[in-house]
Amino acid sequence: MGKSLVCFADTDSTNIQAKLLAEQNAPDGTLVCSDQQTKGRGRRGRAWDSPPGEAIYMSLLLRPDIHPEHASMLTLVMGMAVADAINELMGGESAGIKWPNDVVLKGKKVSGTLTEMSTEMDCIHYVVIGTGINVNTQKFPKELDQATSLRLAAGHNFRRAELIALCMKYFEKYYALFERTEDLSLLIDEYNRLLVNRNREVRVLEPGNEYTGLALGINNQGELLVRRENGRVDEIYAGEVSVRGV
Ligand code: BTN
Repeated sequence: MGKSLVCFADTDSTNIQAKLLAEQNAPDGTLVCSDQQTKGRGRRGRAWDSPPGEAIYMSLLLRPDIHPEHASMLTLVMGMAVADAINELMGGESAGIKWPNDVVLKGKKVSGTLTEMSTEMDCIHYVVIGTGINVNTQKFPKELDQATSLRLAAGHNFRRAELIALCMKYFEKYYALFERTEDLSLLIDEYNRLLVNRNREVRVLEPGNEYTGLALGINNQGELLVRRENGRVDEIYAGEVSVRGV
């Protein structure tokens, strides 16, 4: 992964650039990075603040031979890779995952991933997994008070290139588990190990409904299993609801 590397000093969005490269037949595993983005995009149509010199903005292009319904797991795979990469670089800091794929450090968000996909019939043409990591950020805008960086957590700067290389190393490790589609149990065990919501009370917010329950971990589709007070276990799909700590 990342052996074909495209780097920008400045671009609109690495996801947009990765999609353009995909249409021009760029190879599987191409990684697009930029020092800053003018149109950085986050999940749920939000903007992703992308100033220069301090963060990682990267998008990985994949052409996996899987059914589109399994592609949502790829976002989780990147979250796992980023969490493990941060933990290795920081020497045992406890980065974890807030379901589905925010990476958190000391309870605050340090990284997010936006995955986009192009399909033809029931086949995937390509997937772009775009990740932002707050590395050396010292100050966030007021509205991002739930954000943190490696620098704020550790008190010193880190080399972004080193963290990107570690992310690719761990992505390869987890992607190999993901490719064993007949048995995802090892991948799911690793994800649940990193899941900060696990065995915690969570509040599930879905349109017109709100309840609390115990988060148990994820299933094969990456859905969060939540046990309600009446004992029923719900499977929560990330696109429909959000989950908060209680
Ligand atoms: C989120 O909302 O948590 C996802 C944020 C994803 C941001 C990254 S930065 C690199 C890539 N390019 C984009 O425009 N977005 C993703």
